[in-house]
Amino acid sequence: MSAAPARRAAALFTETFGSRPDGLWWAPGRVNLIGEHTDYNDGFVLPFALGHGVAAAARVGTEPVLRVRSGQQAEIVELPLADVAPGTVSGWSAYVAGVAWALLQDGHRLPGLDLVVDGDVPLGAGLSSSAALECAVALAWNDLAGLGLSRTALAGIARRAENEVVGAPTGVMDQMASLHGREGNLVFLDTRSLGVEHIPFDLASAGLALLVVDSRTPHALVSGEYAERRRSCRLAAERLGVPALRDAALDDLARLDDDLLLRRARHVVTEDARVAEVVAALRAGADPRAIGPLLTTSHASMRDDFEITVPPVDLAVTTALDAGAHGARMTGGGFGGCVIALVDRDDAEPIARRVEAAYAGAGHGPPAAFTTRAHEGAGRLDGA
Ligand code: GLA
Repeated sequence: MSAAPARRAAALFTETFGSRPDGLWWAPGRVNLIGEHTDYNDGFVLPFALGHGVAAAARVGTEPVLRVRSGQQAEIVELPLADVAPGTVSGWSAYVAGVAWALLQDGHRLPGLDLVVDGDVPLGAGLSSSAALECAVALAWNDLAGLGLSRTALAGIARRAENEVVGAPTGVMDQMASLHGREGNLVFLDTRSLGVEHIPFDLASAGLALLVVDSRTPHALVSGEYAERRRSCRLAAERLGVPALRDAALDDLARLDDDLLLRRARHVVTEDARVAEVVAALRAGADPRAIGPLLTTSHASMRDDFEITVPPVDLAVTTALDAGAHGARMTGGGFGGCVIALVDRDDAEPIARRVEAAYAGAGHGPPAAFTTRAHEGAGRLDGA
């Protein structure tokens, strides 16, 4: 994790509320290695926690009121807990208030909270800044109110905050990745059972790196398009007579007489299979280069069957591959956001430069690039 957000959150807390916080919590964003748009189909995902995240400095309040400030925003939001409900709060504080609402809905008794949050996950890049915020706040409340909830239960709370108060109909991958992330490991999640297996993912000792290229493409249509993909998947499952697309086999799909539904379903069914292949290769101790082609096939499936990529994202993938990447794909919800490329360590810099040059040539704004690895997930920072 990066220490700066925690330092800033603690300092801003003291400045805002006049004394030190009771504690400091941290929750990271995530990169999904593979398994895209499978989580709301009861399928499999393989994300890992980033070094970027959100820190929360918090103290139990004297009244049942949430008072929250963000290092990235000017205003202090003050909300009586009893007033928090879907539709009553919007903007960034909805992620925070949503956590309170979901906990209260589950019958937990919550004290008020004085809270400062600060983060360094690039916003709107598809790296789950929102899940990081929800999870940091959920952990803080869990500890300060002595709720004793498990990490998986907290992920469910954070997801309900996002689905029902923020209004984004996402799956549970991002919150589970943030809360179950482990240094040097992927989080192999079965989104039906919510079972987690940590899969060692050590690129450095194979001389490899994972390059993240942020296309910096604004993704204005995301929520409508995302909801549409969910609807298509549900419809395809209904027509196939299965509880979810996770239960469909590739051969079953010929029964879908609607070409659009067939392609949407084919992405999900083949993507689940690719996750299984990547997991099998890594469990067997294969050279991680072997998973490169699966990443690239995943991208083609998102581009051609699921239709969630955009030209700048496709350009980053093809350029990275032309420049020597072993595999590359968009990561996250789509319609912009980030591309990941599996590269030899010494190629990371030149490949990033090649993508920059390709963007300039195509008239796109400059992308941002960094290399990353699997980091530790969410937790309390002050050891209390
Ligand atoms: C977003 C959602 C996740 C998941 C991905 C696509 O990140 O928050 O739940 O559906 O898109 O894989």
